[in-house]
Amino acid sequence: MAKVKTLWYCSSCGADSPKWEGRCPACGEWNTMVEERVPTKGLRGGSPVTGRQAVKSVPQRVSEIKSLNEPRIHMPSEELNRVLGGGLVAGSLVLIGGEPGIGKSTLVLQNILSIKTKKILYVSGEESARQLKLRADRIGRMSDNCYIVCETSLESIFEHIDDVKPEMVIVDSIQTIASDAVESSAGSVSQVRECSARLLMYAKESGVPVILIGHINKEGSIAGPKVLEHIVDAVLQFEGDRHYMYRILRSIKNRFGSTSELGIYEMCQRGLREVTNPSEMLLTQNDEELSGIAIGVTLEGIRPFLIEAQALVSTAAYGTPQRSVTGFDSRRMNMLLAVLEKRVGFKIAQKDVFLNIAGGLKVNDPALDLSVICAILSSNVDMAIPRGVCMSGEVGLSGEIRPITRIEQRISEAEKPGMNTIIVPRNNLKGIDVSRLKIRVEEVAKVEEAFRTLFA
Ligand code: TYD
Ligand code: MG
Repeated sequence: MAKVKTLWYCSSCGADSPKWEGRCPACGEWNTMVEERVPTKGLRGGSPVTGRQAVKSVPQRVSEIKSLNEPRIHMPSEELNRVLGGGLVAGSLVLIGGEPGIGKSTLVLQNILSIKTKKILYVSGEESARQLKLRADRIGRMSDNCYIVCETSLESIFEHIDDVKPEMVIVDSIQTIASDAVESSAGSVSQVRECSARLLMYAKESGVPVILIGHINKEGSIAGPKVLEHIVDAVLQFEGDRHYMYRILRSIKNRFGSTSELGIYEMCQRGLREVTNPSEMLLTQNDEELSGIAIGVTLEGIRPFLIEAQALVSTAAYGTPQRSVTGFDSRRMNMLLAVLEKRVGFKIAQKDVFLNIAGGLKVNDPALDLSVICAILSSNVDMAIPRGVCMSGEVGLSGEIRPITRIEQRISEAEKPGMNTIIVPRNNLKGIDVSRLKIRVEEVAKVEEAFRTLFA
């Protein structure tokens, strides 16, 4: 019997070490080293299906390499297509990560059930075929070309692939799959690494795209192994607050497209619905004017949308004033409060301040500063910001409004749903013809000026 060798792997970054260490030498995380057995009889370097050694490659000049027009499989969901950079590339390995219960299986299942022309194999290591059927019924779509198999052994998966000869393979989830070549249990760093490497080889050899679903651990990385992110061609992250219905599909890495695209979905009774106009959804359709609400124009990736900042300022009930923030950086809000106090002269040190970004989204676009500060002020003076006014601008420490990126896109987004005025930083509009715009553009250089514009 071969001698069993063990190695220590960092569960955060995947680095290995021959001995235990309190702190990972590669990423510096504490207490992340776990012991695992090393592969004893891996099929390294050979074909994942046959185990045969792949054809030797020879160096070529870049100019001599034939450029193929990457054939892409068009996915039924336009949002998914956009995040993938225009469809699923043949032979690519895509990882969809997200917290448990966020809707990864639903997203994938919903898409593949709508592709009727391609043979698709869905390998589930988490749910039984019957559970999947229930879900498919709920989503309300059916395809005769979609095969489902519940399997956790990598070797058997390749046998199924041999039988079915699919044109697309889904593995849900990579953490439940184990290969015989590695002795450690499913979900461990070496298993995840081995299984994804073999699936990658299969994808590249056969030109069949493979979608892996992966869980995210509580630190937010895809179940330990960051290694997975190096192996795969694209990493898509599905995120959102479980208590809200909105989900964002973000691309973190994409070898075939831009990483600044994102897709927005809403979880409904019958699966996920695409949200093509997020602004409409994120704004409260309120007829009366309320104080403490300011509409900002923010960017997620390269996609602009309108979002509501809501603030409540009240006299502190206890000695120490409370500061509570959802969806926005709390340190940034404290900084904005200090600017209000020091530069604008509003006394809010003894007030409770609550801030909420509506819709359950987390925003860290500095251009939202201006709407946060205006919402706080509007609540403090108990005067509503007039309807149809939105704003975008970064606030500096001296109370100056600083220029922001992609101002044109923000303005054109603001023009859409019934907005009549947008407040923007001064000198941010160079080379833009304001007179052609339907919306009124107010330029401001200081926080006080913005207030005067709003509450004059
Ligand atoms: P799921 O896709 O199983 O999440 P993941 O694969 O990421 O773990 O689904 C997550 C949740 O979505 C589940 O708790 C129920 C909800 N859901 C709906 O609200 N509507 C639906 O039509 C479906 C299929 C699921
Ligand atoms: Mg699932």
